[in-house]
Amino acid sequence: PTVEAAELERTFIAIKPDGVQRGLISEIIGRFERKGYKLVAIKLIVPTKEFAAQHYDDLSSRPFFNGLCDFLSSGPVVAMVWEGQGVIKYGRKLIGATSPQASEPGTIRGDLCVQVSRNIIHGSDGPETAVNEIGLWFKPEELVSYTKNDEKWLY
Ligand code: TYD
Repeated sequence: PTVEAAELERTFIAIKPDGVQRGLISEIIGRFERKGYKLVAIKLIVPTKEFAAQHYDDLSSRPFFNGLCDFLSSGPVVAMVWEGQGVIKYGRKLIGATSPQASEPGTIRGDLCVQVSRNIIHGSDGPETAVNEIGLWFKPEELVSYTKNDEKWLY
């Protein structure tokens, strides 16, 4: 079986400061990796509050916006781009519902956290936000192109 190039979409995934502080980096990366997705970019950065506000700019009118931006800029974040068939939608499935109280067991948020404002991971919610978020967090040359032989063993 082969996968069409157009189906190999990309999504932006970030482990938030609480996920880093709680030692969940490898646990979270492992779930995307074991599923079969391909890591094409990764870096550890402490975003400024202004950068966090840009990332969450669609939520600027929400009451939790200021606290959310303070939180995202409060420490190191693992910023990543993952590639694969259906990775945008299925990545959200791996992550679980926004509120960990509503996230199913087996999801990252369902298994690993309890509170909405400390929900450890971000994932793009659609094709358009994926493109925008990848462009905000990464320079084009930071996206690494390499062969993983998925065409033979995964698709
Ligand atoms: P949102 O984009 O709605 O959720 P998701 O991260 O699942 O795409 O919200 C962004 C983040 O804002 C969310 O991950 C946690 C935070 N947040 C709160 O702190 N309180 C809230 O009531 C909501 C809805 C979100």
